[in-house]
Amino acid sequence: MSHSISSPTSLNRRTLLMGSMGLLTGAAAFRFPTPAIAQSVPLKVGLMLPYSGTFAKLGKFIDDGMRLYVEQNGGSLGGRRIEFVQVDDESKPESATDNMNRLVGREKVDVVVGTVHSGVAMAMVKVARDTNTMLIIPNAGVNEATGPLCAPNIFRTSFSNWQVCHPMGKVMFDAGHRNVATITWRYAAGTQMIDAFKEGFTKAGGKIADDLALPFPEVEFQALIARIATLKPDAMFAFFAGGGAVKFVKDYAAAGLNKSIPLYGAGFLTDGTIQAQGADAAGIKTTLHYADDLDLPANKRFLEAFKAKTGNDGDIYAVQGYDAGALLKSGLEAVKGDWSARAAVVEAMRGAKFDSPRGPVSFNKANNPVQNVYLREVRNGRNEMISIAGTAVDDPARGCRVQA
Ligand code: PHB
Repeated sequence: MSHSISSPTSLNRRTLLMGSMGLLTGAAAFRFPTPAIAQSVPLKVGLMLPYSGTFAKLGKFIDDGMRLYVEQNGGSLGGRRIEFVQVDDESKPESATDNMNRLVGREKVDVVVGTVHSGVAMAMVKVARDTNTMLIIPNAGVNEATGPLCAPNIFRTSFSNWQVCHPMGKVMFDAGHRNVATITWRYAAGTQMIDAFKEGFTKAGGKIADDLALPFPEVEFQALIARIATLKPDAMFAFFAGGGAVKFVKDYAAAGLNKSIPLYGAGFLTDGTIQAQGADAAGIKTTLHYADDLDLPANKRFLEAFKAKTGNDGDIYAVQGYDAGALLKSGLEAVKGDWSARAAVVEAMRGAKFDSPRGPVSFNKANNPVQNVYLREVRNGRNEMISIAGTAVDDPARGCRVQA
């Protein structure tokens, strides 16, 4: 079952639990809820994602991926039926605390899965910490979530901003580029991804020609593209995603820069956007924890099932949503659906290891995935793997005090 948060909620969890409790009296009531009762009530999952705006397609693919996983498991994980409510966060940090509070306070969800935008995720992390709500982040890479703000109830099935961009520094240096300029949106994800790339690149011996940026989610790239043409760096490193990434890649090609200044980036530049970019994306090299042609049984099965369900080609966002389902299942299975056994849920989720469509995934002490990062190139309209840029890359979890 699923409903949007704006539509009337039928029976909520409390109503159902209270109904059952009416049958109990005296001492029995103090032991409530017993696992048996708790398990007969669906686990309520709040999907807080962008269903509109520049990241709308990314949110939709995460949602589709997660629902696919639950469907493949017959609608239940660890014996517990799954019910979804969803809220459109519009990638607006200013509404994020209210949206999260509505899910936690009014909807009384058991777990929140969200979101895409790092700034929105920061607000969600704070509410999750304050209310001890389980949060699974299926995209946003904000380093703090599994760094200084790490907590036992905060997991990520995606990546940290550091993790996917740091390996590109050495890749670009080894490709012979010495003088590189960067471009991004000026917000947490952009800044952290550029910083991670620069850390790797300058350590290898490279120099940064300039850092260019514009406010999120603006797409007026002309002045910055003119600046790149004047600067003439050996290559560019970029982070944009969703609708903004489509426009940037098209504008870059329209200015003819793709012929003279090779474009590199975080894989989000061409993941989920490649079809709309068409021939303008050809040859772009990126690093990401996924590639379309990964020759793994789990990837082939996933892509086939995703296509059958949605009619679309799967991408990293769909994979991250799918794996949010897998992580939730690890927790629920360990406690036979009794979500109230929180310590055992956390232990099982932290110890989870699965064969994701992206390759092997495990979790570090800060609940961030340990995973391969691939160098990919856009060829034949796909993000094809060239090599593994980093095997089992682990985010350093800077600032995270080891959790018990
Ligand atoms: C982020 O804000 O963390 C973010 C957004 C879109 C992406 C990747 C990261 O594709």
